[in-house]
Amino acid sequence: MTDKQPIPFLDLKAQQRRIAIDLRHRLDAVLEHCQFVLGPEVRELETALAKFCGAAHCVSVSSGTDALQIALMAEGIGRGDAVFLPAFTYTATAEVPLLLGATPVFVDVDPRTFQIDPVHLAQRIEQVRADGKLKPRAIIGVDLFGQSAEWPALRDIARQNELFLLDDLAQSFGASLHGKMLGSQADATATSFFPSKPLGAYGDGGALFTESEQRAELYRSLRTHGEGKTRYEVLRTGMNGRLDSIQAAVLLAKLAVFPEELRARERIAQIYDQRLGNAVTTPKRVADSTSAWAIYAILLHDEAARDRAQMVLRAGGVPTAIYYPRPLHRQPAYSAQHDGSALPVSEDLATRILALPIHPDLTDHDVDRICTAMLATV
Ligand SMILES: Cc1ncc(COP(=O)(O)O)c(C=O)c1O
Repeated sequence: MTDKQPIPFLDLKAQQRRIAIDLRHRLDAVLEHCQFVLGPEVRELETALAKFCGAAHCVSVSSGTDALQIALMAEGIGRGDAVFLPAFTYTATAEVPLLLGATPVFVDVDPRTFQIDPVHLAQRIEQVRADGKLKPRAIIGVDLFGQSAEWPALRDIARQNELFLLDDLAQSFGASLHGKMLGSQADATATSFFPSKPLGAYGDGGALFTESEQRAELYRSLRTHGEGKTRYEVLRTGMNGRLDSIQAAVLLAKLAVFPEELRARERIAQIYDQRLGNAVTTPKRVADSTSAWAIYAILLHDEAARDRAQMVLRAGGVPTAIYYPRPLHRQPAYSAQHDGSALPVSEDLATRILALPIHPDLTDHDVDRICTAMLATV
């Protein structure tokens, strides 16, 4: 391979070659039984996922967005309700409360870990209470980029304010905090199996985790049009949010190699930390946690330095990405919802952040090329 050959930002073909035999076997089984929606693979996957992250219940659904929506629907969140969430996250986190008629209230993030800032969260809840227009109802804590949010602090704030606490684990399934896999830090946890996620399907998929039997039952009903004990008993307004058996089969094949993939991502992150740590700001780890390293994001000095780095890296065959070029309160879809509070960290990160490739099929040579190219830009 020449040293100009592009390095893939994510290499799903290489991953597919590693799991080809098991994958083919599992897909053939689905083609054989033809139960394409909520088939036996779906139940097998739910059991395996709950065991993997130590949660009492897993309810698979059709996407991470639908997982968030079902969790909020189950709490009856809607018009007049305030849902607190970070301004620096993917659009789905804010889109869901809005779809249900609730108002997203944007909270700033920690400048070094990029996770929702508990101190600012508490201030924002006070502010909304004092304002008296909206009723504080829920917090969505996002585990951004593969890392854990500060869950003990978020739980304290939720408890003090009697708010529903939802973990948006879409980017970070496989991460842990205080020696425990994420999945049971909040009242409910929503994850995504979008293909580019650390554990990704070959299409859309997601899952909900909860310790509450009652909530799990509600989630199962809501994902199937609000059905009751029998198929044609409709208890509530629900949605079509079920997972396909083919996606479950793919996820089962990938789950078998997931722990070793997490270790490979961690190893690459450590090399980046060591090689790049003196030249750029590398991501700070949340104390006593492990990351699923969905994204390895560094901070450049300013926007001009980022533009320059992206250009030089691209010319050297190294792809990069910007998550996120705009915080949500600056997006046209959400700016009218924002009360004008300053969110300086989210705004600053948007101008300087840059994601480098990180996936289990990067070779040592690739990682060396990425580091050498990156160091040449600063
Ligand atoms: C933080 C976050 N929340 C929610 C979602 C939505 O997941 P999905 O794409 O599976 O609907 C994503 C997906 O990218 C995400 O990054």
